[in-house]
Amino acid sequence: MTVRRVHSRRVRIIGIGSGHPDQVTHEAAAALRGVAFVIAADKAGPDQPRDRLLEAREEIARRYGDVPVIKVSDPERDRDDVVDYRGAVRDWHEARVAAYEAVLVAHEGDAAFLVWGDPAFYDSTIRIVEGIQRRGRVSFEYDVIPGISSVQVLAARHRIVLHEVGQPILITTGRRLSEAVDQGHDNIVVMLDGNLACVELEGEWQIWWGANLGTADERLVSGRLADVRDELRVQRDTAKGTSGWVMDTYLLRRPVPQVVAASGDND
Ligand SMILES: C[S@@+](CC[C@H](N)C(=O)[O-])C[C@H]1O[C@@H](n2cnc3c(N)ncnc32)[C@H](O)[C@@H]1O
Repeated sequence: MTVRRVHSRRVRIIGIGSGHPDQVTHEAAAALRGVAFVIAADKAGPDQPRDRLLEAREEIARRYGDVPVIKVSDPERDRDDVVDYRGAVRDWHEARVAAYEAVLVAHEGDAAFLVWGDPAFYDSTIRIVEGIQRRGRVSFEYDVIPGISSVQVLAARHRIVLHEVGQPILITTGRRLSEAVDQGHDNIVVMLDGNLACVELEGEWQIWWGANLGTADERLVSGRLADVRDELRVQRDTAKGTSGWVMDTYLLRRPVPQVVAASGDND
């Protein structure tokens, strides 16, 4: 007996790199060319007349297969709820689940979400797609295509390994940086930091910082944190002024005694 596999509808979660269309991998481009449409959040509003990340996604969808982009106004997020941060994010995700589900109900064919950087780092698309699947109104399979994360671009631009030989890295947010330092972490990658939380840190730290990585207005600063605090503020403000937006990522490291690689270490 021959068993024929019926191709069910697919939702493809595609990492697109962190700022430059050349960071779209061959695998991502092929996946994008195979879908009927892209679903993309539109965050433009009274406070933000242009959504530049949406524009970047539209450019990639045009470049790789001229795929139509269905824009979905991003639901309001309660950023004032500092007490129940997780609850506010959960409500926002539920609103996004409902909005994207409505698009999948209204349009036929395979769909793609174009995720900034890599879907595994501080991005909710996988959770949202799982949420749509759980509700059961639309039937589909989904897969994930990896992308080049801003963390990787940061390391490449500074020509560094993100950790010393055999040592761990903590990846966290600006909001949780001081907690990580209190816990004794000494090799920390920080993302989602709108306020340069690092400039408040005391003690001996090295920093490798990058803003708008992969774009024409990429900025890099590195050195002893105590020596480059002001430079960080200036570069961040200037990037925002020049590009109209700024996203930055950085590695902080407290110097520890050098470890000589044991034979057999291959990292
Ligand atoms: C919502 S998270 C998404 C991260 C993304 N999934 C990734 O893999 O890079 C957004 C954060 O990623 C970092 N980021 C994204 N793109 C960046 C870029 N081009 N340059 C520097 N940092 C970036 C910033 O820390 C920003 O606050």
